[in-house]
Amino acid sequence: MSEQVEMERNLAMELVRATEAAALNAARWMGKGNKNASDQAAVDALRSVLNSVDMDGIVVIGEGEKDEAPMLYVGEQIGNGNQPQVDIAVDPIDGTRLLAQGMPNSIAVVTISERGTMYAAPPGIFYMQKIAVGPEAAEAIDINRSTEWNIKSVAAALRLHAEDITVTVLDRPRHEQLIKEIRAAGARIKLITDGDVLGALDAAMPDTGVNILMGIGGAPEGVLAACGLKCIGGNMQAKPWPRNDEDRRKAAESGADLTKVFGIDDLVSGDDIFFAATGITDGELMHGVRYFPNGATTSSIAMRSRSGTIRYVNARHTFDKLMRISTIPYQGEHNH
Ligand code: FBP
Repeated sequence: MSEQVEMERNLAMELVRATEAAALNAARWMGKGNKNASDQAAVDALRSVLNSVDMDGIVVIGEGEKDEAPMLYVGEQIGNGNQPQVDIAVDPIDGTRLLAQGMPNSIAVVTISERGTMYAAPPGIFYMQKIAVGPEAAEAIDINRSTEWNIKSVAAALRLHAEDITVTVLDRPRHEQLIKEIRAAGARIKLITDGDVLGALDAAMPDTGVNILMGIGGAPEGVLAACGLKCIGGNMQAKPWPRNDEDRRKAAESGADLTKVFGIDDLVSGDDIFFAATGITDGELMHGVRYFPNGATTSSIAMRSRSGTIRYVNARHTFDKLMRISTIPYQGEHNH
């Protein structure tokens, strides 16, 4: 029993080693305009470290189906096969476009929870409408109510005026109406071009300058964000958002209920969740990979829902001392 507890204790830190490796490898591709190569670099590094972790993991959210993705595909077994049995969700780069363009806020993310506890969106549910907040406003959201109601309710919970609230929204044409509603409610808006996992985390963490994430983003990113928010003690609700009739048809075929409101526990029902993220390019929560002679620094968060511990992990990696890490950043250069 004590062995099991000790092993579980280490998992968040093990995951951080994996996201650090992914960030170190992917960061070489910053601004190079090559999304596929940067994704591959992150996937290779993430997978190689995850496979050394003491766990028997199944990828629930990954790089897609087996025939399309040779690595970290949905259903792939990850870890060294030892206990515990876990579900894994990965986003080797959330914000591939951000990284390719050298813009801020791209991160590497991995999260695990007990086996069978993560929501695997069926075909047809690619996107979800989301609302995410931090601990103080956890009880103040209701996705079925209006934008104005939610902003005023969150403002009251945070002892702020609606005018003081900042809402993060993905900059997409589909959000034109939402943006009008937020402005009409008097709140401020931070438009992001990509990366709504970090958008949700930023909304839930103190001192980031944003209070709510609202709008439609990827369904897998919704589950990843829910895992992080459970560690932080925040809250999230989501609703499937079919893009077109094709999505509706696929959802009907797979028996998915497009009217369901997903609470945070529907997205991830586990209560022992580990979450790690590392900055690839600079962001509010974490700085990006920065180089020094023969090494680089990384900035990460490592969290566990059961204890509620949030660790900020700043690491200094020396390439010629850590051989495994050392080879990783330079592989990208050879791939040109
Ligand atoms: P990837 O970098 O993993 O491709 O995702 C970036 C992202 O911005 C997510 O954070 C977000 O949920 C999704 O894409 C939004 O999708 P779209 O760009 O199709 O609106």
